[in-house]
Amino acid sequence: MNQSKVGVVGLGYVGLPVAVAFGKHFPVIGFDINEERITTLKQGYDTTKEVEPFELLTSNVFFTTAPSLLSECDYIIVAVPTPLDAYNLPYLEPILKASKMVGQHIKPGATVIFESTVYPGLTEEECLPLLERFSHMKAGTDFFIGYSPERINPGDKQNNFTSIMKVVAGMDELTTEKIAQLYRTVVKAGVHKAPSIKVAEAAKVIENTQRDINIAFMNEVAMLLDAMDIDTKAVLDAASTKWNFLPFTPGLVGGHCIGVDPYYLAYKAKEYQVTPKMILSGRDINNNMANYMIHKILQEMKNQNMTVKGAVVTILGITFKPNVPDIRNTQIVKVIHELKVRGMNVQVHDSYADKAQVLEQFGIELMPYNELMPANIVVLATPHQQYIRQYDEKFPFTHLLKGNKSIMFDVKHMSLKAMKHNNYKVVANQAVL
Ligand SMILES: NC(=O)c1ccc[n+]([C@@H]2O[C@H](COP(=O)([O-])OP(=O)(O)OC[C@H]3O[C@@H](n4cnc5c(N)ncnc54)[C@H](O)[C@@H]3O)[C@@H](O)[C@H]2O)c1
Repeated sequence: MNQSKVGVVGLGYVGLPVAVAFGKHFPVIGFDINEERITTLKQGYDTTKEVEPFELLTSNVFFTTAPSLLSECDYIIVAVPTPLDAYNLPYLEPILKASKMVGQHIKPGATVIFESTVYPGLTEEECLPLLERFSHMKAGTDFFIGYSPERINPGDKQNNFTSIMKVVAGMDELTTEKIAQLYRTVVKAGVHKAPSIKVAEAAKVIENTQRDINIAFMNEVAMLLDAMDIDTKAVLDAASTKWNFLPFTPGLVGGHCIGVDPYYLAYKAKEYQVTPKMILSGRDINNNMANYMIHKILQEMKNQNMTVKGAVVTILGITFKPNVPDIRNTQIVKVIHELKVRGMNVQVHDSYADKAQVLEQFGIELMPYNELMPANIVVLATPHQQYIRQYDEKFPFTHLLKGNKSIMFDVKHMSLKAMKHNNYKVVANQAVL
């Protein structure tokens, strides 16, 4: 084991921290098809902001776009994206291409471990045949496969790759133990050996589906309480005093996991003629929250006799969650688009998101904070630390508002207390906390 070399295929939010963690114990080949990503990593800069420059520059990871180097590796960990297509169906091209490429370069005796989130069955039904076809070798005798779902939470500096227990599974008992030993060297929290690859795949996908359904329930509750003019946050504070009340909150669900993985499970369910009613209704509710937010903003403008056309709106935060630069499937973009369609003058600020990426993907030009015009409406959409720090000030955000008829929408309900001290109307949006 000590002499082993580890390869990591796909160096994004998941793959890079994995490569760097293994790089503390083994020589590592870090492979990605994105040349720009490899160039910046070699320079010690991680655009996902998960790994510090010092760690990158001192890690024992050789960053490359040359797949042939994978033939030196005893273990190859695959962490490529598993997104959806335009019809919310699994888009498997990246993982299938990666399997083919690994097959072309894998050496006899090596073990391939998939970390990408997939539906139960994908590793053995789709990836394994490609590995066999392109390596001209037989799995189980010439090379081995396994699955170990990734549970990291980007932006979370406490729960990270080494501090979260790792579920591992191999194609047979021996492979499972070999994979367990490999991860034990880096994961301080330990490993859990699942009885099969399908079990490990299913465990990951239901973890995220459970979160999606719980958030959907909170969103439904919040819309109901809002209609009844009952403060959602006060209700959650009260309910949370019970020991087994789960601490979920309403909100927009974006990103590459919670809003995506349930569709992988639903896709597979249909193959078995099982109708995934709860899974899909959770998705439906969460997908509609951006529309609900637009409705709330327009409703409040009407209550204030505010003219919609030409109103200046400031959106604070465009990433799908706080303190990360990840803009994948961010739902706030739907809100921005709809407000613009209605003739509002929308300005967006986010110092975490990459300016060029936001422009390329959404056609939105991010504004520097000190150039934001005073606005009729300010929407605190993603409570980055930078914004939250302002709650310590006496009149947070008031400098961004136009006058005392302006409205502040606090999507996550963070500023309610602070904003009570001033004259501005605060809609601490009970339904979209
Ligand atoms: N981001 C998360 O919070 C998170 C958490 C747990 C699990 N996951 C899962 O991990 C997987 C990876 O997600 P991510 O967030 O790291 O994605 P990402 O988009 O941040 O990174 C993926 C990387 O893979 C590279 N890539 C794409 N195709 C490739 C190929 N054929 N060969 C080599 N490299 C290739 C891309 O260039 C990119 O750098 C997904 O299945 C995701 O569902 C993500």
